[in-house]
Amino acid sequence: MCGIFAYLNYQVPRTRKEIFETLVKGLQRLEYRGYDSAGIAVDGPKKTGNEHNQNTICLIKKTGKVKALDEELCKKDLLDLDEKLFTHFGIAHTRWATHGEPSEVNSHPHRSDKENEFVVIHNGIITNYKELKAYLINKGYEFESETDTEVIPKLIKYVYDNRENEDIGFSTLVERVIQQLEGAFALVFKSRNFPREAVCTRRGSPLLIGVRSEYELSTEDIPIQYNNALFKEGVQEKNSHNRADCSSDIDSVGDGRAVEYYFASDASAIIEHTNKVLYLEDDDMAVVSEGKLSIHRLRRKVNENPVRAIQTLQMELQQIMKGNFDAFMQKEIFEQPESVFNTMRGRICFDTNTVILGGLKDHLKEIKRCRRLIVIGCGTSFHAAVATRQILEELTELSVMVELASDFLDRNTPVFRDDVCFFISQSGETADTLMALRYCKGQGALTVGVTNTVGSSICRETDCGVHINAGPEIGVASTKAYTSQFVALVMFGLMMSEDRLSLQQRRLDIINSLKMLPDLIKQVLALDKKIKAIADELYQQKSLLVMGRGYHYATCLEGALKIKEITYMHSEGILAGELKHGPLALIDKEMPVIMIIMKDSCYTKCQNALEQVTARSGRPIILCCKDDTDICKNAYHTLELPQTVDCLQGILTVIPLQLLSFHLAVLRGYDVDFPRNLAKSVTVE
Ligand code: F6R
Repeated sequence: MCGIFAYLNYQVPRTRKEIFETLVKGLQRLEYRGYDSAGIAVDGPKKTGNEHNQNTICLIKKTGKVKALDEELCKKDLLDLDEKLFTHFGIAHTRWATHGEPSEVNSHPHRSDKENEFVVIHNGIITNYKELKAYLINKGYEFESETDTEVIPKLIKYVYDNRENEDIGFSTLVERVIQQLEGAFALVFKSRNFPREAVCTRRGSPLLIGVRSEYELSTEDIPIQYNNALFKEGVQEKNSHNRADCSSDIDSVGDGRAVEYYFASDASAIIEHTNKVLYLEDDDMAVVSEGKLSIHRLRRKVNENPVRAIQTLQMELQQIMKGNFDAFMQKEIFEQPESVFNTMRGRICFDTNTVILGGLKDHLKEIKRCRRLIVIGCGTSFHAAVATRQILEELTELSVMVELASDFLDRNTPVFRDDVCFFISQSGETADTLMALRYCKGQGALTVGVTNTVGSSICRETDCGVHINAGPEIGVASTKAYTSQFVALVMFGLMMSEDRLSLQQRRLDIINSLKMLPDLIKQVLALDKKIKAIADELYQQKSLLVMGRGYHYATCLEGALKIKEITYMHSEGILAGELKHGPLALIDKEMPVIMIIMKDSCYTKCQNALEQVTARSGRPIILCCKDDTDICKNAYHTLELPQTVDCLQGILTVIPLQLLSFHLAVLRGYDVDFPRNLAKSVTVE
């Protein structure tokens, strides 16, 4: 949901061309977050006036993908691309439109005025923008876009214009502005009045800072400065107006020597430059002045960690490259043998048949005592909850509710202190899921995160959790995160049932099947050509039904979601048990229908559904077990899949549908990684 990237080089000579390349590459890495339009702000040539040379800021924006912006930058002949800039701060943004259509004027950076005195990039939503806009218009400020964001640069200029004789620093201005904002934001500010200074902040939207220096950093633990004062345990707070002045050896990173800073919505845009990163917390403000990075907060929260640590990212550059694949989605589908293995690695001991999820073990007693489990997510993450509900009920012997975060909130669902609430999220930033988490926390429930993004908001705000370790997922359509969430939730069930005598054989079957899972996934992936051939037949259809029941209902929902989001075909996941209550009316010889009929407790019921479909001249494409001749003879096409234990079979049935949706989208001529109207990380409600 919008990508933010900014780059500050301090005493590191970079040509303007190199700076453009860094900004564009950063945006390209974040493009999955939004790709309606993109823009940058960099220093322009100095204006020579009568009194003194004045700094200028140059804004370049373009609708469409980042590539279009890149082409535009090459055309900019007013800027000398070979000019070396020793210290420079550039900001860049790729947009997913929420307020106002994709257009140059609505794209970021937004500006305070025609002179570009202050410019800002924003990810999130300002919910009180209408009131602020009315106020500012009343004060004579002119707006040019339809966005919520534009109130921010206008507001900072308003505060600056009304500073009277106060000697006010850049960060203080930003601090005053964010106190007026409601909603969610990650913001990066640049100003021609404070050249070479960067100020950024967040509340509810992610933001991190990468640090690169040839020199050893002066500190890796930055103490927070509260309301213009530095917090140090046992040390008196010290006052300072100008943040640039309040530096000592340990209160900022950088000591005036050459250093580069990268600001981004997520780590994938930073990893090629540095693996040293600092994750900002809500209401943190990071300031870089004279090459020094310091962190500020308005006030101290109870039990707050008084430092922000620079961490070392474990991510590899290769993980965020497409390699030999045509699309990230395709690469991520084919990565699943490794990604599910990584979810299990170090957690399942196949010799002793034990499962330990380190992040949950200290809370296990409390979880076992709970009244019910509530598993909450959106989209694909919700489907992972649906897929594992039955096995969680069986292994935990608890009642398990699965909930769509938005609906859960709309209903003000009753939640109690003895509930345990799971929040499933690949990004860890989904606004609805995050809101549901805060709601459940407020009700006193224990909160557990199941996320793929280390350092994400859900990760930080839950009481405990599990990282699914699937590796970065860049394709907008979620694939490998789903199968890893699935495995992580099953592992949780296994951990909960370790001392249940009656469940030992069941546990053993599941653990043995988990061991085989990566190989079985490889066998399913080997069906790719056959799946492509089916896609060749189907791609001109308007609609596609996916039908199944029991453990495979989630596969139907997830398969249909994949198909609709990247192929734009209508697709519906249908619970086969509901067939005769309505959907059967859709069946005729024209309507493509995929049925999932595996040998499990629902087999006979699924066979009945198949008969009902064929009796209406339906021509089903069936996902079934290898050599199931009974099924094959009634099918129009079959995809024969290896068999595993019933509760894991859904991992093997979803993969053909991931592949099918991929091929359908390619054949229909769509950009698989950039489905229209969507973005990967939905940080707005
Ligand atoms: C579908 C998809 C979305 C996400 C949903 C939740 O392919 O990607 O439905 O699953 O927006 O996102 P996370 O898991 O990041 O909370």
